[in-house]
Amino acid sequence: MFKSLIVGNWKMHGTAEEAVNLASQLAEGWNAGNDAVEMAIFPPFIHIPAVAAAVAKSTISIGAQNVSEYSAGAYTGETSAEMLVDQGCKYVLVGHSERRAMHNESSETVAEKFIAAQSAGLIPILCVGESLQQRQGNQTVEVVSAQIAAVVERAGLHNVCRAVIAYEPVWAVGTGETATPNQAQQVHSAIRAQLGEAGQSTQLLYGGSVKAENAAELFAQPDINGGLVGGASLEAVEFLNIAKLIEA
Ligand code: PGA
Repeated sequence: MFKSLIVGNWKMHGTAEEAVNLASQLAEGWNAGNDAVEMAIFPPFIHIPAVAAAVAKSTISIGAQNVSEYSAGAYTGETSAEMLVDQGCKYVLVGHSERRAMHNESSETVAEKFIAAQSAGLIPILCVGESLQQRQGNQTVEVVSAQIAAVVERAGLHNVCRAVIAYEPVWAVGTGETATPNQAQQVHSAIRAQLGEAGQSTQLLYGGSVKAENAAELFAQPDINGGLVGGASLEAVEFLNIAKLIEA
């Protein structure tokens, strides 16, 4: 029913040469004829042009890990959505838990980034998720739905539904802990319900320590349409194996 999406978020890793090597191995290993699954890789900003060139002949898409909420001006160190489009990006992460936590991004800022990205023609991947404390306090759905509502309020429901949403429990990102397929599905189905009729075909990804050994069960859940993979996407064979589990 859905075209699935598998995203490799490389975070802040590697030299240009390593990035190009990894991208080339993925381009070689990924089945270009696959209509059911799209692979997208998200290198550090500085490696985007080299990686885009390395996968140019493949079906692999490129995304960025962050974007400015502003379109141009005196914003030292920032990168605009137009610049990302210009370098061949199709997607951008907004509201990744590492940026919310370490760069103090509020849900309002995340909404502004979402709007800037979409206005420039990028597809935002809106990342949402609860902390361990919030899960233990039974606030998971409340927290996730508030994070989504903040974007819906500013960007409109229709625009959120045509983007991608990634549920990433903060306690599972980069920790080796994964939500059980059941835990993940419960949140995904709550997100689907929040979006209503307009969100029936919105791509919902799961992220948080996805590996080849746990991916199949997660991807088998009815409201999980793909994955956002960090650590395991830095190794070509592992990432290809994960992607192939969606195909199955
Ligand atoms: P992880 O990262 O797979 O290393 O937990 C997920 C992410 O990029 O958010």
